[in-house]
Amino acid sequence: MQKQLKKRLDDIRKKGNYRQLRYIKPVTSTQILYNGKAYLNLCSNSYLSLHVHPDILKAAKDVIDEYGAGTCSSRSVSGSIDIYGQLEKMIARYKGYRKGLIFSNGYMANIAIISTLTDSNDVIFSDELNHSSLIDATRLSRAKKVIYKHRDMNDLEKKLGRERSAGKRFVVTESVFSMDGDIAPLSDIFELRERYGFHMILDDAHGTGVFGQKGTGVEELFGLSGSMDVHMATFGKALGSFGAFVLSDEVVINFLINRARTFMYTTALPASSLASAMKALEMIEQDTTYKDRLWKNIDYMRMRLNTAGFDLKDSVGPIIPIVVGEDAKTLRMQESLMRKGLFLQGIRPPTVPEGTSRLRLTVVRGFTQEDMDYAIETIIHAGKKMELI
Ligand SMILES: Cc1ncc(COP(=O)(O)O)c(C=O)c1O
Repeated sequence: MQKQLKKRLDDIRKKGNYRQLRYIKPVTSTQILYNGKAYLNLCSNSYLSLHVHPDILKAAKDVIDEYGAGTCSSRSVSGSIDIYGQLEKMIARYKGYRKGLIFSNGYMANIAIISTLTDSNDVIFSDELNHSSLIDATRLSRAKKVIYKHRDMNDLEKKLGRERSAGKRFVVTESVFSMDGDIAPLSDIFELRERYGFHMILDDAHGTGVFGQKGTGVEELFGLSGSMDVHMATFGKALGSFGAFVLSDEVVINFLINRARTFMYTTALPASSLASAMKALEMIEQDTTYKDRLWKNIDYMRMRLNTAGFDLKDSVGPIIPIVVGEDAKTLRMQESLMRKGLFLQGIRPPTVPEGTSRLRLTVVRGFTQEDMDYAIETIIHAGKKMELI
């Protein structure tokens, strides 16, 4: 086996697609230490820079004293500590849904929703750029899979018209696409829902805390808060903690509690993760300036990079893809930025389609004007050398 795997790894290396882990240590909300050198972190999903906020850290520390370091049990056995109940109510109210259920992470929540709620005579219509957790969930489902072109409503409509089903039909999409930073056309999808009838599953992992006047997510932006059949999002990005949740009505949530294997057969989250998520939620509900400050940074960085002439695709929020194209060239650009103290990742296949390798830059609230100007000028300099602009 080793010989075969080594050959495959060599092939991956030759394509410039080899991945290595980098062990880092956070210094501030935006700075990290890597190999003893300080870097500006340009690839964090902690959009509101809350993962090191002192109030959130205090909330986590306080419950550790009361509840211990771990739950050491699944939720169905004895891990469902009371903080779960409080946070599930809070998140359901915040997003406008009847009931919530917390999962250990978003990957497991997506697996649960799609593999548990669909049957063999159902059809799942899935955007071609959906996150790997949604793809894997669809693979685990026995339903028929139909992939529609990215955000292409004509293609979705054509396929909805063609793929009739004796069972249920589901449309599954991310709200903010994690590698492209563009958003799903929810109003158009809802128009199709009225005409064709299907259940809507939305993954708002990157929209929560960021989009909408109140920051509740992309549904709010479209005036569709609380309207999905099943809504999923995570605590591990803008909310600065860890874990995920599914929102829906009583019946769906009770069904997941009874049948979702990634809910039933895993150890429940520790109190510290739940308490920090709860504190973050409380803070962003009371004070929208966290989000407003983030948007100032997003608008500034996107404007400067756009003006410089980079291909940023149709991104609109904190995720800014800088498309390079070839894997090896993407890696070279990443390495040159690393040498200048910028920590960011080259994203290559299979995470993104062949020929669209890119640097995935994320904007966070904690960036100072100086941070942003330094990052932008360094990226522009490298982009010119690589003949991207
Ligand atoms: C769109 C999307 N959905 C789901 C997940 C999985 O969430 P988690 O990291 O909590 O497993 C991620 C990223 O991690 C994501 O980007």
